[in-house]
Amino acid sequence: MTGTKIDGNIIAKSVKDRVKKAVDELKLQGVNPCLATVLVGDNPASTTYVRNKHKACEEVGILTKDHKLQSTFSQKEMNELIDSLNNDYSIHGILVQLPLPEHLDKFETISRISPIKDVDGLTPHNVGLLAMKKAALVACTPSGVIEMFDYHNINLDGKIVVLINRSNLIGKPLYHLLLARNATVITCHSKTKNLKDICQTADVVITAVGDRTKFTLIPDMIKDGAVVIDVAITQHNGKLVGDTDFDKIIEKASFASPVPGGVGPMTVAMLLKNTVTAASLIKGLAKQ
Ligand SMILES: NC(=O)c1ccc[n+]([C@@H]2O[C@H](COP(=O)([O-])OP(=O)(O)OC[C@H]3O[C@@H](n4cnc5c(N)ncnc54)[C@H](OP(=O)(O)O)[C@@H]3O)[C@@H](O)[C@H]2O)c1
Repeated sequence: MTGTKIDGNIIAKSVKDRVKKAVDELKLQGVNPCLATVLVGDNPASTTYVRNKHKACEEVGILTKDHKLQSTFSQKEMNELIDSLNNDYSIHGILVQLPLPEHLDKFETISRISPIKDVDGLTPHNVGLLAMKKAALVACTPSGVIEMFDYHNINLDGKIVVLINRSNLIGKPLYHLLLARNATVITCHSKTKNLKDICQTADVVITAVGDRTKFTLIPDMIKDGAVVIDVAITQHNGKLVGDTDFDKIIEKASFASPVPGGVGPMTVAMLLKNTVTAASLIKGLAKQ
């Protein structure tokens, strides 16, 4: 069989259209949604990611405030900057681009962001709410994956979902989102034994390893008609790829997402959605 491509660009566009409408409505009520970004150092990938996020904000009418900092920026300075952004009424969302240089403490930095402005959904407060099915601001990549299922009416109720990742950014938030959709979730990682056998039991495989020297999801590992979401982004043989070769996996899957053009655009779209949600929460127009 040849499956259906889950096109992240098309689905992201539908999310952005909804966000743009919400932004226009907020503006009518005197609220100008604004995202502050914090980028430390000159990591080329991070610089590109932040630039793309600004461009996407502009497309839907969200204002941005850019904080580009020297790689020598100290933890004390970071804490002061976050405090000032937390207290700035014109700012509704705060995004600290990861990874941070080694001398900065990721946990201390993220934890300092006001949960109501935490558009990446990574503060301990919002992570806790997610586990209790109460979060309004959820990590962007995981919620983007759920949006992909919804767009294609892929029902997760009772399905076996194998998740190959257990990071705070992807695997753990996705685990909670999938459980909330009544999926039976099996979370795998580098120490998992018999990964191939486990994948073969799955109705849905979501993979996010990001290192082809360690792992590739090949068609032999999935059952006929499985859904495959490839979250990974990595360089392999000079090309940007995920954990699987889309052209091969789509021959066996019922649905599959490519890299590039799959989960990546969804992540940015969900950031825009979270910024609008944060602006609504702050102005009391929505409830946590
Ligand atoms: N599309 C997007 O918008 C987007 C957004 C964020 C990240 N990403 C991409 O997603 C990938 C993962 O990101 P991350 O931040 O979660 O990275 P990470 O923290 O390095 O997580 C990688 C995960 O893969 C597991 N793993 C490593 N080798 C494995 C193997 N041989 N078999 C099975 N599992 C294995 C690791 O297990 P352990 O926990 O045991 O180490 C870990 O859970 C990267 O390629 C990143 O670029 C994409």
